[in-house]
Amino acid sequence: MQPQVAAVFFVSAACTVALAALLAVARMRPPWWCACPVCEAYLTASWAADFDNLCDWYAHLLRTSPEQTVHVHVLRNVLTANPATVDHMLRARFDNYPKGAPFSAILADFLGRGIFNVDGDAWLFQRKLAAAELASPALRAFAVRVVASELRSRLIPLLHSASREGQEGRVLDLQDVFRRFAFDCICKISFGLDPGCLELSMPVSSFENAFDMASTLSARRATVPMHIIWKLKRLLNFGDERRLRDAVHLVDTLAAEVIRQRRKLGGAASGSDLLSRFMGSVNDDKYLRDIVVSFMLAGRDTVASALTAFFLLLSDHPEVAAAIRDEATRVAGDDDRLTASTFNKLKGMHYVHAALSESMRLFPPVQFDSKFVSGDDTLPDGTAVAKGTRVTYHAYAMGRMESVWGPDCGEFRPERWLRNGRFVPENPYQYPVFHAGARVCIGKELALMEMKAVIVAVVRSFDIEAIDRSSRRPKFAPGLTATFAGGLPVRVRRRARVSGRNPPI
Ligand code: HEM
Repeated sequence: MQPQVAAVFFVSAACTVALAALLAVARMRPPWWCACPVCEAYLTASWAADFDNLCDWYAHLLRTSPEQTVHVHVLRNVLTANPATVDHMLRARFDNYPKGAPFSAILADFLGRGIFNVDGDAWLFQRKLAAAELASPALRAFAVRVVASELRSRLIPLLHSASREGQEGRVLDLQDVFRRFAFDCICKISFGLDPGCLELSMPVSSFENAFDMASTLSARRATVPMHIIWKLKRLLNFGDERRLRDAVHLVDTLAAEVIRQRRKLGGAASGSDLLSRFMGSVNDDKYLRDIVVSFMLAGRDTVASALTAFFLLLSDHPEVAAAIRDEATRVAGDDDRLTASTFNKLKGMHYVHAALSESMRLFPPVQFDSKFVSGDDTLPDGTAVAKGTRVTYHAYAMGRMESVWGPDCGEFRPERWLRNGRFVPENPYQYPVFHAGARVCIGKELALMEMKAVIVAVVRSFDIEAIDRSSRRPKFAPGLTATFAGGLPVRVRRRARVSGRNPPI
């Protein structure tokens, strides 16, 4: 053989071998790959061909599972929509289903040792203090004054100004408005300080962006099959992890400012807000920072999420808005001034409560919640869960289970919550929108008061029309709390006053 021919033959053989090796490597699955249909669909994102959101795909899987339980092996995550299992993990075997170390690690940079991210004594200490405070009549009365003032002096004037701008009205992002509203309220109630986010000028503050970014990027950590990846990126301060670090730094700055201001006003002795109470027992500023951030997250994002979804549904259901107006007039008369007595009357508005509960059934602000099994166990549906497995109850899927809510589970029908015109709550393990058991939400009553007050005040004075959005096919953005991608653009129109009186501003 000629040397040139031999060389060509040798090179092409080497190339073929190298190509084959490359193809083999490309076809090789990483060690954690699982070939079951659920994991394949998760890892290749092929579910996105049929569903708008991951939560819709999960809801579909859970509806079609006989046990109402699905195992995503690559995430070591057992998802459930089975009320008996929710009861098991949140009440009957509460001690075996803590938040766990993996969850704490994922959220540690953002939430630190705040109440959402700890178990045991650290959790119990924060819970006892905050629960006692939130239940006190003084704080409740203070919260009513805060919400009334934020409505009267900021939210209602803002909507009025939007409705005045041009024939068709200005397009407003209602999700953003509700976030600012809820943030102002929770800061005033929890820390005795007014951030003034809902001023008419409304520049988007860098803090708000940082808070959202920290929440989104922390949630994203939980979606990767191998945690070593985000841990490595964190070590190298690279990509998402670098952005998360920057966002958390800004959040830290604001929290430090809140603590500094509170101290300036007299610290523990200065007020009846939550932070002053915590300052009486906690000296460590880092711990106080974690407490502050947790309450900001708890009070801002959940309330804003629930209100945004509510007004999207209402835009598709004007008959519900009309029923709310009827009830408000029946219970509170034509007087829609935001006084303490009006707030008292909110309790008698059963239809409003039903409509809000129905909206959160379809769009729970916290779509799912995970725990980590601390000792091998068997779920009531027979699923074996080994120590270290993540078990997630999926509130979004649970609200859409025919087995739980009947064949019209996809419909927005407030009447399903009423018996003889009175609101009747559901079993919390079947409707875990506010969680259930020992760690049930301690802000529930406060949140309900705040949201009902907003609904009644806004629905009585305005028509809100969602633009290019339908409650049938919303798209969610990733994050710890349900958020609509692209916000909720709306047009606001002022309603003609039946009583002829001026609006409540
Ligand atoms: C629509 C409004 C709200 C919804 C749907 C909601 C829902 C929830 C859920 C699902 C949990 C369990 C979270 C977890 O396991 O990590 C929770 C816990 C909690 N919520 Fe809310 N929440 C709302 C409003 C509020 C407000 C306004 C506050 C503040 C005052 C608050 C304070 C808390 C706290 C402190 C916990 C932790 C309880 C514990 O771990 O013992 N929530 N909430």
